[in-house]
Amino acid sequence: MKFFVDTAEIAEIAELNDLGMVDGVTTNPSLIMKSGRDILEVTKEICDLIDGPVSAEVVAVEADDMIAEGRKLAKIAENITVKVPLTWAGLKACKVLSGEGNMVNVTLCFSANQALIAAKAGATFISPFIGRLDDINIDGMDLIADIRTIYDNYDFGTEILAASIRSVNHMSDAALLGADVATAPPNVIKKLAEHPLTDKGLAAFLSDWKKTGQKIL
Ligand code: G3P
Repeated sequence: MKFFVDTAEIAEIAELNDLGMVDGVTTNPSLIMKSGRDILEVTKEICDLIDGPVSAEVVAVEADDMIAEGRKLAKIAENITVKVPLTWAGLKACKVLSGEGNMVNVTLCFSANQALIAAKAGATFISPFIGRLDDINIDGMDLIADIRTIYDNYDFGTEILAASIRSVNHMSDAALLGADVATAPPNVIKKLAEHPLTDKGLAAFLSDWKKTGQKIL
């Protein structure tokens, strides 16, 4: 499973990228707002920093305006993925922008039918929002499983990008179900390394080592 980082914070992306943990980056209007940065400037910096796809989201609601915004965002760098919402206008924009050779991430997906129609419109990535489904007491992972089945049934090339990931369990469940990509905030990616038995075991090893009186260096 590829790891995308869901943030527009350059320092956090750089730290994870140095460890080889970043296959791509996703941003959205809320994350740009949180960063306090200009969308064009910060997106360019991210694209310069990493090799993989960097999702930048349109904010227009009409298809023609989305297409114009998407074309402008796509000019930032070769690794831009234009992100459009899963509306009828967004699907029209997806069809045009992907037809022009751009990567397109169709976002705010909450149903298998939405994922099916996005694949038909030529989406490079579909972004089902797991956490926001969990928020309303619907198991977001069921949606990942359904989309996996549908895409495999018909050999759709659209990649499943599990989004709105809030926990380490979301990451492992998405991987078990065969999501192609998971995009997660940096803190969730860092937590993947944690286990209380690792901490306990290390403390015991270090305590015993101290008793030997030895040094390696
Ligand atoms: O990738 C989409 C993500 O940013 C949304 O996450 O936690 O706001 O639902 P969340």
